[in-house]
Amino acid sequence: MSATVIDGKAFAAKVRGQVATHVTALKNDHGITPGLAVVLVGEDPASQVYVRSKGKMTVEVGMKSVEHKLDADTSEADLLALIQKLNDDAQIHGILVQLPLPDHLDEDLVINSIDPAKDVDGFHISNVGLLGTGQDSMVPCTPLGCLMMLRDHHGSLSGMDAVVIGRSNIVGKPMAQLLLGDSCTVTIAHSRTKDLAEVVRRADIVVAAVGRPQMVPGDWIKPGATVIDVGINRIDKPEGGTRLVGDVDYESCAAVAGAITPVPGGVGPMTIACLLANTVTACCRANGLPAPEGLTA
Ligand code: GUN
Repeated sequence: MSATVIDGKAFAAKVRGQVATHVTALKNDHGITPGLAVVLVGEDPASQVYVRSKGKMTVEVGMKSVEHKLDADTSEADLLALIQKLNDDAQIHGILVQLPLPDHLDEDLVINSIDPAKDVDGFHISNVGLLGTGQDSMVPCTPLGCLMMLRDHHGSLSGMDAVVIGRSNIVGKPMAQLLLGDSCTVTIAHSRTKDLAEVVRRADIVVAAVGRPQMVPGDWIKPGATVIDVGINRIDKPEGGTRLVGDVDYESCAAVAGAITPVPGGVGPMTIACLLANTVTACCRANGLPAPEGLTA
């Protein structure tokens, strides 16, 4: 069997198109322009690339983009004061503080100081609680992107066995909640899981989010299963230079799976598309309008 390749790049472009349509309607029908503020503290090169890319795509879908770049030694009080200002700014509907933060800043404190209604990352403790209890919330972007791709490929996920490998707050745990919300039977596996191979072999859906290059081999995959690879790892090529790989061994998994996301071009592009979708959702809710269908969990 050779797996269907789930084209995250094309799917993300479609989602951004839907976001742009909603943005146009908000402007034309209500005179509202959704606004996203991104806060970057320090000069981490990978974070700078992400933030630039987020800003560019925010503008491309017609939204207002605001970037705040702060020095690496910014005090917690100054950062919290900026967040308060953005919380109070009616033109800003989404706030994202790029992680990781420098060590002297308390990440939990900073994230929990964002107005939950503007927390487009879905990391605020209130949004985590709302998601866990099946209520409307802001949903973390990467798992939301994975869910959209799974729904698009399968239609209903009801009754499917899903294994999420990785238990991070950003991907693993919210992914498990979302799959549970779509009536999957969900297992969260992690570094201490006994006989991980056997656990993964039971899965109709495998979501790999461990951050270890090519960790999942094809012989762990049930024939016909859907494999969603969240990993983005840079490894050395034998002939010199580097390349990006996921958390699954693509060649061997694609030979067994029914469908698989590639790296790059799978989950990655969906994350920013879902950030834009979350900003439109936050904007609609802030203005008493229904959240756009298909762009939320
Ligand atoms: N750093 C890497 N990914 C993310 C993300 O999704 N949100 C935030 N805030 N920081 C990140």
